[in-house]
Amino acid sequence: MLRKIKIASLLLAAISFGTNAQDNVAVYLNGAKPVDERIEDALSRMTVKEKVAMCHAQSKFSSTGVPRLGIPEIWTSDGPHGIRPEVLWNEWGQAGWTNDSCIAFPALTCLAATWNKDMALLYGKSIGEEARYRKKDVLLGPGVNIYRSPLNGRNFEYLGEDPFLAARMVVPYIKGVQQNGVATCVKHFALNNQETNRDNVNVVVDDRALYEIYLPAFKAAVQEGETWAIMGSYNRYRGLHCCHNPYLLNDILRNEWGFKGVVVSDWGGVHNTQQAIANGLDIEFGTKADSLTPNPVDDYSKYFLATPYLDLIRKGEVSTKELDEKVRHILRLEFLTAMNLNKPFGSFGTQEHALAGRKIAEEGIVLLQNKNNVLPIDLSKTKRIAVIGENAIKMMTVGGGSSSLKARYEISPLDGLKKRVGSQAEVVYARGYVGDQGGSYDGVVSGQNLIENRPEADLIAEACALAKTADYVIFVGGLNKSRYQDCEGFDRQTLALPYNQDKLISELAKANKNLVVVNISGNAVAMPWVNDVPAIVQGWYLGSETGNALTAILVGDVNPSGKLPFTFPVKLQDSPAHAFGEFPGENGEVTYKEGIFVGYRWFDTKNIKPLFSFGHGLSYTTFEYGKVTANKKEMTASDKITLTVDVKNTGDRAGSEVVQLYIHDLKSSVPRPVKELKGFEKVLLQPGETKTVSFIVDKTALSFFDAGKHAWVAEPGDFEAIIGASSTDIKSKLGFTLK
Ligand code: BGC
Repeated sequence: MLRKIKIASLLLAAISFGTNAQDNVAVYLNGAKPVDERIEDALSRMTVKEKVAMCHAQSKFSSTGVPRLGIPEIWTSDGPHGIRPEVLWNEWGQAGWTNDSCIAFPALTCLAATWNKDMALLYGKSIGEEARYRKKDVLLGPGVNIYRSPLNGRNFEYLGEDPFLAARMVVPYIKGVQQNGVATCVKHFALNNQETNRDNVNVVVDDRALYEIYLPAFKAAVQEGETWAIMGSYNRYRGLHCCHNPYLLNDILRNEWGFKGVVVSDWGGVHNTQQAIANGLDIEFGTKADSLTPNPVDDYSKYFLATPYLDLIRKGEVSTKELDEKVRHILRLEFLTAMNLNKPFGSFGTQEHALAGRKIAEEGIVLLQNKNNVLPIDLSKTKRIAVIGENAIKMMTVGGGSSSLKARYEISPLDGLKKRVGSQAEVVYARGYVGDQGGSYDGVVSGQNLIENRPEADLIAEACALAKTADYVIFVGGLNKSRYQDCEGFDRQTLALPYNQDKLISELAKANKNLVVVNISGNAVAMPWVNDVPAIVQGWYLGSETGNALTAILVGDVNPSGKLPFTFPVKLQDSPAHAFGEFPGENGEVTYKEGIFVGYRWFDTKNIKPLFSFGHGLSYTTFEYGKVTANKKEMTASDKITLTVDVKNTGDRAGSEVVQLYIHDLKSSVPRPVKELKGFEKVLLQPGETKTVSFIVDKTALSFFDAGKHAWVAEPGDFEAIIGASSTDIKSKLGFTLK
């Protein structure tokens, strides 16, 4: 009996000890308390100095926590295609860790080309797990700046030319990342559509183009994706730098969209303390501190939001109202990431991630042209394949700017093909041209020796001689992420392929009729030889699994299903920004004179035939579309119409088709594009199989942005629903009326 009482009282003591412990946890550390309460509690315990310290970087990629209160530092990392290797505290140079080689995922243009929201979720989940394992709280990506010109050096990091496509793809990416307790930092907000003079160029754009073209992906990221962070951009808008821009950050992001997350600056994007205080920025990164102070130890204290901020508060020139607001945002981010008690541990460099990258790559590769069904390669009838071109061997995960990676491995197109073909055929190789012989970025080296000193004529002659002996010729060329060839900081200078590849391709076409050109790039390139080459494949930058994914398409293990997320113009002058001579602008200013007529909106409206259309991509099977039907012919502004269309696989192999819905406003008080993408669905169909695809249309799909009213307006009248396999391959149309 006595023993029983003893045990009972021990238990009671333990329970009450437990309760007391719970009660004693400070509110800000208590995960059971509402976030807003935790934020206010933490804030009330902090000194002004501690608060200011949170508003600027302490190293290249991290910002300060509150050590006294156990509030951790925030660690960020590029993004957006894999987790960047560790750099030194205060330098871009490598820290020399041996545990930071990541899986390199395909570039975001490739993700956009999948037109598959499930792929965006898979991408986000996988890269988020890699970030979490590497103890990163904020992933510096994805980038959603609209593809305005094929010369923009960073287009490969973005999601293409269409606001609807970019918006639909960014939302699942964000969800996938953030379920790991890692914030996405959607960038670069906003109007960062060129690299030339990127730190200063003032973008002049009308409100309608801003809201219809350049903002929707950011808005979706905030309101549907619920991103926890956003990065301001380098350029200016209405004369003010975007990292502390009152129109973009206060009026639109915070007030119109209700963003509660953190605004970080782009690295070195802050220029003014007062503006950074007042205009919506929360954390300042990458200020070129070396030029601000002779003493590097003091660098971070000299940031615009460091001592200068503290001084203004101490002198009473600014209050702490904005400071508290900034710290509230940062604390919210802390609770969701670094201090998230439920976050998983992540995983890194796994086979699962590699396979995710491969799947995305395989779904994003676009078969642009396939005359005489040259592809897929029938290995049973093939003795010899000649692979030509530098990009068949060059590592592409190193280079291109801040998205450069230290990949765990990267399978080149040549190695991927050789491995798959095995002893079934002979695979021979010739370089054909010399492009970029380098292979290092911020101290990460590819380790490849690409030195080649033979003259061009010899290389072409060797390649053509080899081509003549082969059943198939696979030319792998394009751009390569070196300066001016798809690279941050350096816009391209021409639409043409560099290194005289056009000449080589034309010669190869004469040498062998079974020529396949694989273009590796994140941008459209000119193809003066398009009529001489039977098969053309858009290969993007595909990451670790490049060679495996490309080979799977070339030999037909995978049926291509990617579609272009931007238009390929025949010539530069055909694309809108260049038609107006408004790229990259002059005297520090660029005016988006084309307004809303970006990408296919321009080509359609002006009746300009593109080289390859937005939304275009072929398959090894064929699809037959039924007629689009609707559940009614009229709708009101509060109503919806459901459109349906049947798609049948009429070929003899399984394949996926991206069914696209465009809307045409037949009569409007303002100029409208001939068509605008308002829905898409990717469907997998077995041979002979038919599936019905449905789209729900409401007034948002019919609206334009009325700048005068500062509101979206759907004008009553007649509309057309257009179903296409691309923006120019139209299958059927149906009229309906908005009452
Ligand atoms: C780029 C950002 C990047 C940052 C950090 C900047 O130069 O514009 O996209 O996240 O550097 O590397």
